[in-house]
This record gives sequence, structure tokens and C-alpha cells, in this order.
Amino acid sequence: MSGVHCLIDDEGHYVQAHSIIASGDAAVVVQREDVAIKMAIVYKYYTMEKVEGNRQKIRREQEVWRRIQPNLETPVEGIVHCLDLPGDTIEMRYMSGGTLSKWLKHRARPSIELQKRWFRQLAIGLHNLHQRRVIHSDILSRNILLDGSLNVVIADLGASTIMPINTVMVNAVDDYNCSIWTDICQLGLVFYEIITGRQTCISLYRSDSNDSIAIFPPRNILPTLDKRIWAQDIIETCWREGRYGAAGAAGILVKLDNE
Ligand SMILES: Nc1ncnc2c1ncn2[C@@H]1O[C@H](COP(=O)(O)OP(=O)(O)OP(=O)(O)O)[C@@H](O)[C@H]1O
Ligand SMILES: [Mg+2]
Repeated sequence: MSGVHCLIDDEGHYVQAHSIIASGDAAVVVQREDVAIKMAIVYKYYTMEKVEGNRQKIRREQEVWRRIQPNLETPVEGIVHCLDLPGDTIEMRYMSGGTLSKWLKHRARPSIELQKRWFRQLAIGLHNLHQRRVIHSDILSRNILLDGSLNVVIADLGASTIMPINTVMVNAVDDYNCSIWTDICQLGLVFYEIITGRQTCISLYRSDSNDSIAIFPPRNILPTLDKRIWAQDIIETCWREGRYGAAGAAGILVKLDNE
């Protein structure tokens, strides 16, 4: 084979096909033992501009990691552990359980006990991001990963925004109108998916325009919640902009404690 269609890693070597976990628009994630490495997609036939664009996206994500986990030895609860940021790559702990989206599609419904554990871990992860003045902007079940003991963590900071460190997050929006409230709304959709197994595909962006400005989804386009759902109040509050008040995502933990 000519190698034209083989991916090239950060050191210029061909990427072994069997090591690829996932490959998206601009980034590929490969596994090396217990490390997952996210790097720019580079093919031999790519133009310099295209390669540079993909590398730039990784460098942006590295900046988010530097804000979130300035000390690489100290992982942040609820967020995938970043191990190192060598060159234009992101090295993370390999999460052997795969994505939550896949898990929910292929496994039996999780017990209420497990649902509660996941809600707690995700609320802690999101709260930790917001405390570090980062808006995630892409809280989806495919960006949530499981380890081998069914613990969940938030991953994929590729769409995240780093806000100034003194930002009062409850009132802030980024350049795309994303906020802690759009993150919490998306988390509510993930909660709904965990409980019902249904993926809603509700986006923060209008499908009929190229507009990249987010809109907090009005309640009437979000699913109807059966009153018998144990987390009805928790999810309902996620879907009302600002309703967790000054506590933000930590307010979810308070409600969980009262369940
Ligand atoms: N630490 C990890 N351990 C195991 N698998 C991982 C890890 N990080 C990422 N992956 C896998 O790689 C996929 C892509 O990673 P990530 O979401 O960070 O990249 P992306 O290119 O921004 O994705 P997309 O645009 O599709 O959301 C994940 O959905 C998951 O399957
Ligand atoms: Mg992703």
C-alpha cells in the first residue's frame, strides 16, 4: 500500500489501524496500552493549511486542559484524567468502558442506584469545569466516557470556552451564547437519556441556518417528563434557564441528596 490513506501521527509515523479508537472531522484518538492519545488527523495528501488547521484545534483544546488541570498529577473529579500534553497531542487515561452513548444503546437499562451514581459524577464534573471558568458547550452522551468499573467522566473539551478567571459564571455567556445554563440543559438531556434510553437529538443551534449562536431550548421543544420519573424535578430544573440559581451545577447535588 502506498501509505497515502494511512493516518500519520505527531511524530510522522503511520498510525496502526488497530490502535484507532475513533476518528472524527479533525481529530483521531488512538490507544497505546492504558493511554488514549488524541491528535490531529493528518494524511500525506493533506495540504499544509488543512494539517495546520487540525493541529490548531488540538492546541486550543490543550489550552483548556491547562486551565482545568494545571497540575497533571492531580486529576479533576468527574473529568477524564489528562496525563500529558506532549507536542500537538492530548494524552488521557484510557477509558475501557467506551462512550455512555454506546453503553446506553447496547446494555440493559441501568439500575436507579447506578443512575444516581452517574448523575452525581456528572454534576460534580460539570461543577468543577464551571468553577474553573470553562463552558463545555458539547455535553452529549458521546462525550461522556466510562471506566471498567462503570464510573463516568466528562470528556472532549474541543468545543469548550475558557472564560476570564474572574467571570461570574451565573450571568456569563461566551461568544456563541453558550453558558453554564446551556451546559446544564444539555446535562438534563443526558439524564433523560440515561433514564429512558431515548436520545433526543435536540440541539442548541437552529438546524435551518448556519448560525453558530446557541439558543437555550424553550421548554416546549424539550421532552415531556412523566411525573413518576424519580429525577423529574432534577431534570425539569435543568431545562429552565437559571433555575439552579447561584449554585449552578452544584444545585443538582443538593437535589440528589434530598432524593
Ligand atoms: N480517554 C479516552 N479513552 C477511551 N476512548 C476515548 C478517550 N477519549 C476519546 N475517546 C474516544 O474517541 C472519541 C472521540 O474523542 P473526542 O470526543 O474527544 O473527539 P472529537 O473528535 O472531538 O469527537 P466528536 O467531534 O465526534 O465529538 C470518543 O467518542 C471516544 O470514543
Ligand atoms: Mg466528541
